[in-house]
Amino acid sequence: MKDDVKKVLLSEEELHAKVAELGAQITKDYEGKNLLLVTVLKGAVVFLADLMRTIDQPAEIDFMVVSSYGSGVKSSGVVKIVKDLDINLEGKDILIVEDILDSGMTLDYIKGMLLDRNPASIRICALLDKPARRKVDLQADYVGFTIPDEFVIGYGLDYDEKYRNLPYIGVLKPEVYSV
Ligand code: PRP
Ligand code: MN
Ligand code: MG
Repeated sequence: MKDDVKKVLLSEEELHAKVAELGAQITKDYEGKNLLLVTVLKGAVVFLADLMRTIDQPAEIDFMVVSSYGSGVKSSGVVKIVKDLDINLEGKDILIVEDILDSGMTLDYIKGMLLDRNPASIRICALLDKPARRKVDLQADYVGFTIPDEFVIGYGLDYDEKYRNLPYIGVLKPEVYSV
């Protein structure tokens, strides 16, 4: 696995320091609120697992599974809900936890869908932001790192379902995905 990594972009130490910083900010901002962390599987599970333990406030968690409709999530931005949230969103302060904001199309669609369910508020927390790839006008309210347009894997992020269990974020060697 490590042989496929060209370079480490963000080390375990850098990730943990940033996650703690985000958690402290979220703790402050959500004092007295009904915080619900919403995660879209699978990429964000590692980030969620670390982030939730740095939030010193009551916080619920829930998960969604989505898949692309026909031409694909990446091109159309229209997604099919494979597994919906279990929790009723009315009055909840939703924080969508994402590993990476790329084109933004998936999240733009999901955010709109969740807004229709009358939450008290809805914000986005993305560990990584790749603004160079954005196709819709969407920003995260909390961003860990703004990164260049490179193929990143690890800490939940995959290439072909692999590398999610690397403890750091790395850049894949081009020969791994170009063969
Ligand atoms: C990746 C990533 C984000 C999304 C970002 O998920 O985890 O959820 O793409 O891309 P976008 O901003 O262009 O919509 P992916 O669809 O690969 O599923 P996964 O989380 O199961 O890896
Ligand atoms: Mn994902
Ligand atoms: Mg993926």
